[in-house]
Formats: sequence, structure tokens, C-alpha cells
Amino acid sequence: MKEKCTAIVLAAGSGKRMGTQVRKQYLDIWGKPVLYYSLKCFEDSRVIDEVILVTGAGEIEYCRDEIVKKYNFTKVCRIVAGGDERYDSVYAGLKNCEDCDYVFIHDGARPFVDEEMIEEALLTVRQCGACVAAVPSKDTVKIVEKDGVIAQTPQRSKVWIVQTPQVFAYPLIRSAYDKMMNLPHDHVTDDAMAVEWMERHPVKVTKGSYYNIKITTPEDMKLAEIFVQEKK
Ligand code: CTP
Ligand code: MG
Repeated sequence: MKEKCTAIVLAAGSGKRMGTQVRKQYLDIWGKPVLYYSLKCFEDSRVIDEVILVTGAGEIEYCRDEIVKKYNFTKVCRIVAGGDERYDSVYAGLKNCEDCDYVFIHDGARPFVDEEMIEEALLTVRQCGACVAAVPSKDTVKIVEKDGVIAQTPQRSKVWIVQTPQVFAYPLIRSAYDKMMNLPHDHVTDDAMAVEWMERHPVKVTKGSYYNIKITTPEDMKLAEIFVQEKK
């Protein structure tokens, strides 16, 4: 029997850097919200069994009626309230997973995830239990101190830009989050960090894409419009 694969799609952020009145996950790209495109890929995926949508406490009804019902996303089995920070929202999702083998944690603000990425990640997670979609950095990255002075330059060939989905064996990520949430964890910005830190378990990079941008600031919306238009 095939393993059960659950996706947690995160849409509980407030989009401060986008700065729009409407939160960025609900902004329109060619007539449909950003979150529609993110959910659609998991809905249509051959390997995903169910989807848990994590949203703001006040947006559950809106998501149910205006996104899940409207676009007939049949794999969305639960819509749950997230928390103040991304890790709080992930933890809410993890606590709502039912007997799944692998969990695909995905930013709702990344509408250009694709099936190839999901399937590659499943192959990798089966072998090693933890992987994240990523692409090699096109730019040189600098570590800069508070005074604005460059302290270090990591070798570019070793620098990867990590994206989502971030995919884990469920017991591994659940254990990492259970431990981490009981310690100071303000610095944690992605799920791989939780596993690296709490479990000392290797996390692999798997195939991401340069299209798989996170909608973060206004110029990202312009790119998103071009990407959707190109697909049409
Ligand atoms: N997210 C979430 N719960 C939070 C914070 C973030 O579910 N408390 C989600 C966002 O909705 C987004 C993803 O995590 O899909 C990545 O976060 P980010 O790009 O930082 O989104 P925001 O936190 O909304 O934006 P900003 O940091 O600019 O406020
Ligand atoms: Mg944020």
C-alpha cells in the first residue's frame, strides 16, 4: 500500500512586507487568489492524499466558502487556525495530521510549486526522511555584521536558496517541533532548521525551481502575473 502523504499549506501570515490591505495570499493573479494556485497543485498531485489548510483564525469561513468550496478542493480535509509566527502555524498543522507517513509543508504564498517537485521530494524523503526544495544561489551571499561590514563570504557553489515544500517523515518532524516549541525558538525560520537542530538528522536538498518564488513584496506580484500568463 502506498504511504499516506499529507500537505500542510500555510496561509496564516499577515504579509507585512507586501503591505497591502488584502493579505498577500488572497491577492488576485489573473482572476484567482494566490492561495488558489498553491492549493491547486496539491489537489491535482498524484501523490498527495490530503491537505490541511492553516489560516488566520478570522479567515476560516472565508477560506472554506470562497476558496475550498468555490474551486472544489476535495483534498482539503481540515482548515485550522494558525498562530503568530510561521512555526506556530506549522505546529497547528502538525497537530492536526492524522496517521500520515510523510508531511509536505508548503508556503501558501508560493503559487508555483509543481508536480515534478512534489514527486522528486517524495522519492528523496523515502530514502532519507527529510528534504527541502532548493535551487543554487545565483548571487554571491555575504554575512554582514551590525556595523554594515562584511564578515564572511560563503563559497557560492555551496549556497542554496531553500524553498518549500519541505518534506519529512511525520514522526521526525513532529518530534522536532515538540522539542523545539519547549525551548527558545524565535530564530527558527524554516522547518529544516527544526530537524537539523533538534534531531541532528541530515536534511537533503531536492529539486526546486526558479519559478517557485515566494510572493513577498509588490514586485513579486508582477512576476507572478507573467508566470501565470506564460502557463495559460
Ligand atoms: N505564515 C503562517 N503563519 C504565520 C506567518 C506566516 O501561516 N504566523 C505563512 C504565510 O502565510 C506564508 C508562509 O508562511 O504563506 C511564508 O511566510 P512569509 O512569506 O513570511 O509570509 P508573512 O509572514 O505573511 O509575510 P511577512 O513576513 O512579510 O509579514
Ligand atoms: Mg513572515
